[in-house]
Amino acid sequence: MEFLRLFFAVLFGFLSSSQLGISQVLDDRTILVEIGKEIGVSFWSLNNSDYCSWIGISCSLKNHSAVEKLDLSSHGLQGNVTLISELRALKWLDLSYNNFHGSIPREFGNLSELQVLDLSFNKFGSSIPVELGRLKNLKSLNLSNNFLTGIIPEELEGLEKLEEFQIYTNRMNGSIPEWLGNLTNLRTFTAYENELSGYVPDNLGSVSELQLLNVHSNQLEGSIPESIFANEKLEVLVLTQNRLNGMIPSSVGNCKGLSSIRIGNNKLTGNIPKEIGNITGLTYFEADNNLLSGEIVSEFAQCLNLTLLNLASNGFSGTIPPEFGQLSNLQELILSGNGLFGEIPNTILSCKNLNKLDLSSNRLNGSIPQEICSTSKLQYLLLSQNFIRGEIPHEIGNCIKLLELQLGSNYLTGNIPPEIGHMKNLQIALNLSSNHLRGQLPQELGKLDKLVALDLSNNLLTGNIPIALKGMLSLIEVNFSNNQLTGPIPTFVPFQKSPNSSFFGNKGLCGEPLSPSCGNLNGSGHVYYHHRVSYRIILTVIGSGLAVFVSVTIVVLLYMMRERQEEAGKGGGTTDDETTGKPVIIAGSVFVENLRQAIDFDAAVKATVKESNKLSVGTFSTVYRADMPSGMTLSVKKLRSMDKTLIHHQSKMIRELERLSKLTHANLIRPIGFVIYEDVALLLHQYFPNGTLAQFLHEFTKKQDYKPDWPTRLSIAIGVAEGLAFLHHVAIIHLDISSGNVLLDSNFNPLVGEVEISKLLDPSRGTASISAVAGSFGYIPPEYAYTMQVTAPGNVYSYGVVLLELLTTRIPVDEEFGEGIDLVKWVHGAPLRGETPEQILDAKLSTVSFAWRKEMLSTLKVALLCTDSTPAKRPKMKKVVEMLQEITQ
Ligand SMILES: *[C@@H]1O[C@H](CO)[C@@H](O)[C@H](O)[C@H]1NC(C)=O
Ligand SMILES: *[C@@H]1O[C@H](CO)[C@@H](O)[C@H](O)[C@H]1NC(C)=O
Ligand SMILES: *[C@@H]1O[C@H](CO)[C@@H](O)[C@H](O)[C@H]1NC(C)=O
Ligand SMILES: *[C@@H]1O[C@H](CO)[C@@H](O)[C@H](O)[C@H]1NC(C)=O
Ligand SMILES: *[C@@H]1O[C@H](CO)[C@@H](O)[C@H](O)[C@H]1NC(C)=O
Ligand SMILES: *[C@@H]1O[C@H](CO)[C@@H](O)[C@H](O)[C@H]1NC(C)=O
Ligand SMILES: *[C@@H]1O[C@H](CO)[C@@H](O)[C@H](O)[C@H]1NC(C)=O
Ligand SMILES: *[C@@H]1O[C@H](CO)[C@@H](O)[C@H](O)[C@H]1NC(C)=O
Ligand SMILES: *[C@@H]1O[C@H](CO)[C@@H](O)[C@H](O)[C@H]1NC(C)=O
Repeated sequence: MEFLRLFFAVLFGFLSSSQLGISQVLDDRTILVEIGKEIGVSFWSLNNSDYCSWIGISCSLKNHSAVEKLDLSSHGLQGNVTLISELRALKWLDLSYNNFHGSIPREFGNLSELQVLDLSFNKFGSSIPVELGRLKNLKSLNLSNNFLTGIIPEELEGLEKLEEFQIYTNRMNGSIPEWLGNLTNLRTFTAYENELSGYVPDNLGSVSELQLLNVHSNQLEGSIPESIFANEKLEVLVLTQNRLNGMIPSSVGNCKGLSSIRIGNNKLTGNIPKEIGNITGLTYFEADNNLLSGEIVSEFAQCLNLTLLNLASNGFSGTIPPEFGQLSNLQELILSGNGLFGEIPNTILSCKNLNKLDLSSNRLNGSIPQEICSTSKLQYLLLSQNFIRGEIPHEIGNCIKLLELQLGSNYLTGNIPPEIGHMKNLQIALNLSSNHLRGQLPQELGKLDKLVALDLSNNLLTGNIPIALKGMLSLIEVNFSNNQLTGPIPTFVPFQKSPNSSFFGNKGLCGEPLSPSCGNLNGSGHVYYHHRVSYRIILTVIGSGLAVFVSVTIVVLLYMMRERQEEAGKGGGTTDDETTGKPVIIAGSVFVENLRQAIDFDAAVKATVKESNKLSVGTFSTVYRADMPSGMTLSVKKLRSMDKTLIHHQSKMIRELERLSKLTHANLIRPIGFVIYEDVALLLHQYFPNGTLAQFLHEFTKKQDYKPDWPTRLSIAIGVAEGLAFLHHVAIIHLDISSGNVLLDSNFNPLVGEVEISKLLDPSRGTASISAVAGSFGYIPPEYAYTMQVTAPGNVYSYGVVLLELLTTRIPVDEEFGEGIDLVKWVHGAPLRGETPEQILDAKLSTVSFAWRKEMLSTLKVALLCTDSTPAKRPKMKKVVEMLQEITQ
């Protein structure tokens, strides 16, 4: 059969092009068929005689039997590619984005016609074969994103026609060869993310057409050679994250076409040459984290297209040139961490495109100009740690686009202006800490309903914390400490969830979390009243969609309270059994037939009374370990009183639980039963002795004897993704995805928990309380803050946070990230900070082997997609599973 098929295939090919050269017809066709078999090409229609029309193949126009172009990129192919070297007429070979591994075949050196060779984004290993130096016609060589090691071979010197040479993200060492500077046609050279050392050759750029030089994240030393700027062609220069020293050559001004200079994270010294102003087309200049000094040259102001200027963390002194006001395209001006003094020039504030102004950690004095935000699109205003005096101008209210305002550690005086409430977009942080601010907190702060972090600590603020602050619906972190505030702390979840240190140092404050109550001042009945009022406020603030279920919650709560009073009135008996103190079980059931004998409801209830049985505390529930008299161990989940509503819907709840118990997936925890007593619902589950993923990542991995293991983490990631993909498939949106809700069995298989909560508290059906839409801090997608709607893309975001935890071994919310920055922002901000993925990933894992590192980088890409701030851009859970599975292949 096989023989016949091949025979016919050959025959067809022969007939159709019999007028052309026969031997080549047989050759290229037979070779293609063999190549197809070797690397598993399934999309070629082998029975179609015209192989030149097969997908990815083009033949020569002059000689229609010769395969000239083979483009097999992005087909998930693997196998032995050596045979491709038999296609002797090949001019273009693109195998990028596949799974090819092993060495690059030496035989490719026989493809003497080859002009384009693209093997990027594969798993090719060992060193670059010297035979590639025989490809005299090669114009473009791309070997990026592989596992290549060794040096750039001497033999490539012969590639005189080379225009583009890309070898970024490999593990190549040695130095950048001298002969590269002799390649007269070279336009692009990228070798970033390798282990290259030594000097940048001092002839690089002198004779070539070099437009793009990108060698960031290597170990290059010495100075930036003048030659780079000798030709005027250079457009993009990236030398970030090396060990370069010396001064920036003044010849930089020769490169009129330079648009982007990135030389941050080196050891460069001296001034920035005034000639920088000659590069009129400069759009991007980033030289942060060096040892540069002197004044910031005003000549930058001649670069009218400049959009970013980042000189942070250097030794610059002097004042900020007022001429910068001419930079109408400037979007980011980052000068933090220098020794700048003088005032903030008013002119800068008139840069109409300015988006980020970071002048923090300098010695600036003067006051905040009234012109602030009069024309600008400012989103980030970071002025902390300076000597800024005077009052915060009322004009601060004009900053309606502001996302973050950092004014901490200055000498600001006066009141907090009420106009601060106009900054409706303020989200990331409002930090006025460590100043000399006085007076009362303005009610208007409560209008900042997107704000996540508020820090007013270390001031002289007086009066009560206004109840109106409960309008700050997105608040997560709050700090009022070390002021002169008085009165009760309003009942507001973000306040009570804060550590009591957030309120320390105010002699007059009382109530949770400082003290249980305010004594006579404020009865608990009052607190409860405010509690419900707060819901009403929320109700008016946010849209009608949410209002529906909030009001349902309130109605149900009131109804339940009345019902319980009536029950009590009937003469007890249904509640506590007074003689034994043992609660009376109202209902209970075990769904799994063969476990009925082994489970004792009384023992389950008793277990939840003992603190020592407590395993974890979640958003909706507390989980206890319960040892049954039968010897079986259960995990018992006690639902938070906030969600008592569901007990009211008992029969519905039982139906849902029973349905869920039949929903079998290897990565989902199923309920095996429930118990209801008084107003408490207990859900019974299997017990997993290895605890939660959160414990595994953040407690277990700290132990001495822990051996880091990436494959286990990746398989956990895939398991969780599969569980969630299945949930979405059956149209269940999870309410609280977090590493604390992923349990690990004895083989470290992950099981997603709290699934039933999602079903029982389905917010779209109006049975959830307001807290139900929140989820766990650090995992909440940004859009929930205003949509208040739990969605599948929202789940993908939370899952992305879990992925980031697996990659970084960091917790989602950590002070180490800095003010208002969570894990997601920290990771997404890495490129801007000039940090490499290595500084993000858990180095204990990423440095173990190159294969692990590679997989981690691929997983990082998936995590970044999942945590995209735009919900529509996030992949579906099913796609996430596919992407992760591809990584392991
Ligand atoms: C090639 O074979 C497939 C089945 O193997 C058939 O569906 C298709 O129509 C055939 N194409 C041609 C051009 O004969
Ligand atoms: C790949 O195939 C060629 C012949 O086509 C053979 O010489 C070579 O050994 C094979 N390589 C591997 C790694 O199997
Ligand atoms: C077609 O090209 C092949 C090699 O590329 C060559 O062997 C053959 O002679 C050419 N045929 C014609 C008709 O030019
Ligand atoms: C192709 O290259 C290999 C290794 O570089 C060499 O041994 C072989 O002789 C070459 N084949 C042909 C047909 O030129
Ligand atoms: C490889 O490099 C070439 C030349 O610079 C470029 O055109 C091509 O797009 C690159 N391939 C990939 C997959 O990025
Ligand atoms: C480059 O790395 C290889 C191992 O991959 C090592 O044997 C060699 O000595 C290194 N060469 C240089 C110049 O560092
Ligand atoms: C580069 O070219 C110059 C001048 O032609 C020559 O002197 C030098 O030896 C060449 N360098 C290399 C490494 O080939
Ligand atoms: C380049 O900059 C220097 C210093 O700012 C200036 O004196 C010189 O005139 C400029 N040259 C050109 C050609 O613009
Ligand atoms: C500035 O940017 C504009 C728009 O991109 C461009 O047309 C102009 O040529 C640039 N100016 C310089 C001096 O390069």
